[in-house]
Amino acid sequence: MKKETVLVIGSCGQLGTELVEALRGIYGDENVIASDIRKGESPVFESGPFELLDILNLDRWKEILHKYKPTHVYHLAALLSATAEQQPEFAWKLNMQGLFHVLDAAKEAGSSIKRVYWPSSIAAFGVNTPRFDTPQYGPMDPSTVYGISKYAGELYIQYYYQRYGVDTRSLRYPGLIGHKSDPGGGTTDYAVAIYHDALKDKHHNCFLKEGTILPMLYMPDALKATLDVMHAPADQIKMRMSYNLAGMSFAPEEIAGSIKKHIPDFNISYTPDYRQAIADTWPAVIDDSMAREHWGWKPDFDLDRMTSDMLTNIAPRYKM
Ligand SMILES: NC(=O)c1ccc[n+]([C@@H]2O[C@H](COP(=O)([O-])OP(=O)(O)OC[C@H]3O[C@@H](n4cnc5c(N)ncnc54)[C@H](O)[C@@H]3O)[C@@H](O)[C@H]2O)c1
Repeated sequence: MKKETVLVIGSCGQLGTELVEALRGIYGDENVIASDIRKGESPVFESGPFELLDILNLDRWKEILHKYKPTHVYHLAALLSATAEQQPEFAWKLNMQGLFHVLDAAKEAGSSIKRVYWPSSIAAFGVNTPRFDTPQYGPMDPSTVYGISKYAGELYIQYYYQRYGVDTRSLRYPGLIGHKSDPGGGTTDYAVAIYHDALKDKHHNCFLKEGTILPMLYMPDALKATLDVMHAPADQIKMRMSYNLAGMSFAPEEIAGSIKKHIPDFNISYTPDYRQAIADTWPAVIDDSMAREHWGWKPDFDLDRMTSDMLTNIAPRYKM
């Protein structure tokens, strides 16, 4: 057990729920403070401290800082791609102002905060980014307010590192797939729903069209990458914007094919909606060689291994 005090902001979402559990396993229940604007239902939020925190509320944020003096902050609160397009002005406010509140606290002389984790996304790329073997550096012209906020955030975390010495670390997550918590309004959410639908109805109606290849990452790999980049010695973190990160890439028909190996009469149909236009601006296959070289990143799960694990873990919910 380490002596750090860890604070997770936006802890009750898809990633945070599992990250809090993983962090409590490392640092001890009492040393990991979960916080969010709402309390999640997972039992993990009963296993240690939980605080209601709206990261846009500066007074409350200062109260939390004073009370816990966190050394490591994981700032996850954001509006995701699809939801952000419904409320673009608020999405910009939450995604940027929330980040500034965290970075400004970390840059103050005598701040308890020694390290900040803030995730970016493949949404930071755009139509002129090469879709295959998407490089770490290349054209960045995001077309959603979410993507614009992620790219701007990447530049700001690098700026706070270079100008104020704040130890910021970040990953460009692909779509995250997990079974312990529900997705929060992203363009890759179908890849979670499809497993539930397969077990419930043997059918999934996909909101993306056939052939839409997107990069994805299974939650155990996302947790491993997040903890590894935060625990790596500072001199290994040579990228202070956000690391490209890859797990697997597939189109809806490929995940359907993987499910059919377990549920032969499963079938998929396609009714693309507004999320198709977002997906069309995103990369298909990411080059994450920098993360592999700098701090030893290597995913454990491919599509079939993930499918097998997802179905095994979800199946008990749908047994009569
Ligand atoms: N899930 C993905 O596929 C994915 C992919 C790329 C990047 N990311 C990034 O990872 C992070 C976490 O994503 P997630 O999937 O867990 O999102 P989510 O939507 O499931 O969870 C976000 C959490 O933030 C909380 N929140 C919202 N406003 C808040 C506020 N003002 N103050 C405090 N908390 C607030 C919400 O209540 C929610 O519990 C985000 O920054 C997201 O952009 C996620």
